[in-house]
Amino acid sequence: MKLLTSIAQLREQIAIWRRNGERIAFVPTMGNLHQGHLRLVDVAKQQADRVIVSIFVNPMQFGKNEDLANYPRSLEQDCAGLSVHQADAVFTPTPEMMYPQGLDKQTFVDVPFLGDLHCGESRPGHFRGVSTIVCKLFNLVQPDIACFGEKDYQQLAIIRQMVADLSMPIQVVGVSTERAEDGLALSSRNNYLTPEQRAQAPQLYQVLQQLKQKIVAGDHNYRALEQAAKQQLSELGLTADYINISQTSSLALATAETDKKVILAAIFVGSTRLIDNIEV
Ligand code: PAF
Repeated sequence: MKLLTSIAQLREQIAIWRRNGERIAFVPTMGNLHQGHLRLVDVAKQQADRVIVSIFVNPMQFGKNEDLANYPRSLEQDCAGLSVHQADAVFTPTPEMMYPQGLDKQTFVDVPFLGDLHCGESRPGHFRGVSTIVCKLFNLVQPDIACFGEKDYQQLAIIRQMVADLSMPIQVVGVSTERAEDGLALSSRNNYLTPEQRAQAPQLYQVLQQLKQKIVAGDHNYRALEQAAKQQLSELGLTADYINISQTSSLALATAETDKKVILAAIFVGSTRLIDNIEV
């Protein structure tokens, strides 16, 4: 597996693959890779000749009081996992390479509406940071396909919208959420949990499953269901940031008339913010 530490090295490698007529799949990450990321690499591998993974903790998507400085970084271990899963290259740019003028003067990509809801409300500017870095990485790598986890449901919807709106010739592939045996969605942020918090965290998925059952059974009183689920979480010692029963297409809040729904949730376990979702 090639380690590409500069934009020049990346471009050189991509040009070689392109000259050979190879199909390129891309998996953007912030590192601290777990089985969920490695599954993205496996799916990418099935659909292309070459798989390139980026590892970049993107400062533009962190708020002022968020965990940028403490975000877990584990490059050596990440590269070992990527080699086992037969990634062809890993691109590890620095913030100076990606944002040479600093963040304040950086041109940005903002996906309206989708980016303002749910996590966008709680984390202003977060999705602008995500869509800007993914756009830049897409321009550098120019992949045929790009794989993203469905755990970040809203992020995936935003990237699909950006690709469509900006006419990018990239197929965006969503890959189902990897879960621990107790149902907790795999996330780099799970590393922050104390053993007690780790034992509490799977309750989120259980509450989402119960909520789904109520909806499937015909309860259309969605706002009341959301409130009840928040209350249930609170009684379990978890603080809901939001639990929203939404339309899968627009991500706007679902009504009784909505056909395809997804329950989107963010909670705090101590100071760690975890997200999850379940389609209905
Ligand atoms: O999902 C992530 O890890 C990040 O948001 C992404 C897509 C790599 C952009 O920094």
